[in-house]
Amino acid sequence: EEQKIQITALGLFPYKGVNLVRGVHQVQHLDSLETFEIRDDDIVVVTYPRSGTTWTQYILSLLYHEDQMTEGSNKPIQELVPFLEENSRQIDYNNQPSTRTFTSHLHLSSIPQGLREKGKVIYIARNPKDVAVSLFHLQNFTKVLKSEPDFNTFLIQFLKGEVLGGSWFDHVDDWYAHKDEFDILSMTYEDMIKDTRGAIVRISNFLGKKLDDQTIDMIVDKSSFKNMKEDPQARRDKQHPEFFEQSGSFIRKGKVGDWKTMFTVAQSEGFDQIYMEKMKDLALEFDWKL
Ligand code: A3P
Repeated sequence: EEQKIQITALGLFPYKGVNLVRGVHQVQHLDSLETFEIRDDDIVVVTYPRSGTTWTQYILSLLYHEDQMTEGSNKPIQELVPFLEENSRQIDYNNQPSTRTFTSHLHLSSIPQGLREKGKVIYIARNPKDVAVSLFHLQNFTKVLKSEPDFNTFLIQFLKGEVLGGSWFDHVDDWYAHKDEFDILSMTYEDMIKDTRGAIVRISNFLGKKLDDQTIDMIVDKSSFKNMKEDPQARRDKQHPEFFEQSGSFIRKGKVGDWKTMFTVAQSEGFDQIYMEKMKDLALEFDWKL
C-alpha cells in the first residue's frame, strides 16, 4: 500500500484534500474513519494546522481529565485529546470510556460521517497570514518534512495548498459552508486571544458544563501560553524529539499579527487579492492584527 502513495516534494502525501505525513498517518486507518462510530457525547476539536489546536486540546483536557486540574499534566495532551487521524499507539477508540475527546485536522470530506448526527464539534480558525507564518516555522523545525527556508517559496506552496494540512482556504471555506450540518461551536484563535476567559466560558457552555468562577480562572491560568510552553506534556516537540529540532518550539509566540514580521508589502497585497477571490462567500471576518 505504501508504494502506491504519491509523496509530494515536502515529504507529505495527499489524502482527500489534506496533506498528511508519511509514517505518522496510515491510509488504512484514515479510510476507516469515514464510518467510525460517533457517540452522542463525543467532542472533536477541528482545525487547520497552526490555528490553536493544542490550546483547545489543553482546555478540553482540563475540562474532561480531572488529574489535569488537580495534579497537573502527567500525560501528553496528545493522548488525552488524541488526533482521530493519528493512531500510532493502535488504540481501539471503540473501547474507550465516555466522554471521548478527539482532535482532527481533517477536511470536511473525510471527517467521520456520524458527526453529522451525533457528537459536538469545536471548530477553530485563525487568520491565514499568521497560520502561514506559524506553519513556515513548524515546517522548518520538524525533521519529518523537507525544510523550506525561503518564505516566498513556502508562501506559494501555502497558497496552492501544497503544505501540511492541504489548502487553508478549502478547509475553512468547506467547514463554514457546512457548519449548520453539525452541532458546532466555531471560534477564532483571535477571539481566544482577545478574551480567553470568554472563550473558555463559551466552550464550557457549549459542552453543557456549568463552571464556577474559580474553576474558570484556573483553566484560564493553566492554559496560558506561558504555562503551556513550560509544560512538556503540552509540547509535541518535547514528546517527540525524534521528529523535531530542539532549537524550535511547537508553542512559539502566540501572537496575533506576527505575519507582519515576515510578509513584505507585496506578499501581503498578493495574499489579500487571493483571499478576497477565494473567500468572498465566507461569513467570517478575521482580526489580522490587534
Ligand atoms: P505561533 O507559531 O504563531 O506562535 P496548533 O496547536 O494548531 O498547531 O497552533 C499552534 C499555534 O498556537 C502557535 O502559534 C502557538 O504558539 C499557538 N499557541 C499554542 N498554545 C497557545 C496558548 N496557550 N496561547 C496562545 N497561543 C498558543
